[in-house]
Amino acid sequence: MQINLTVNGKVRKAEVEDRTLLVYYLREKLGLTGAHVACDTSSCGACIVHVDGKAVKSCTLLAAQADGCQVTTIEGMANADGTLHPLQAGFKECHGLQCGFCTPGMIMTAADLLKSNPHPSETEIRTALEGNICRCTGYHNIVAAIQWAAERSNAPLTADSHLWTNDVVAKEVVETA
Ligand code: FES
Ligand code: FES
Repeated sequence: MQINLTVNGKVRKAEVEDRTLLVYYLREKLGLTGAHVACDTSSCGACIVHVDGKAVKSCTLLAAQADGCQVTTIEGMANADGTLHPLQAGFKECHGLQCGFCTPGMIMTAADLLKSNPHPSETEIRTALEGNICRCTGYHNIVAAIQWAAERSNAPLTADSHLWTNDVVAKEVVETA
């Protein structure tokens, strides 16, 4: 079937099999390999992207189910000039990663959290991350990275800031195979 998604501000048209999962569409058709696949049980969170502004495990969604949606991946988080999203900067500053495998999912989850709760407590951050598994860091620095980003936000975080909302406006139509 043909699907039309807006991915990181670009309209993508593609033919996909009905069974194609969103994460494989993003990785294999679009080359957006920041969303990882690390489990068969929908439990690790490494595949999280935003679909219409909400954090979603892209291994649990068919690409066809995202037809017509706005999708943001980790590749769409930084500004066009390369300026890091505050959460990306926070992970860098606070050493919130070791191998980095879980980091895209962590950041996408945290971005969703900060949109609805710009200044979460440590408990709220840890609760939000319950669906994300990290095998390296022990989580302490991940929480610190999210707090770092939250402390540098200018509340309220509204749709006038791309860096915080990821509401990327579609600019370009790209046909994909
Ligand atoms: S690969 Fe999606 S939750 Fe693990
Ligand atoms: S930094 Fe290695 S899995 Fe999280």
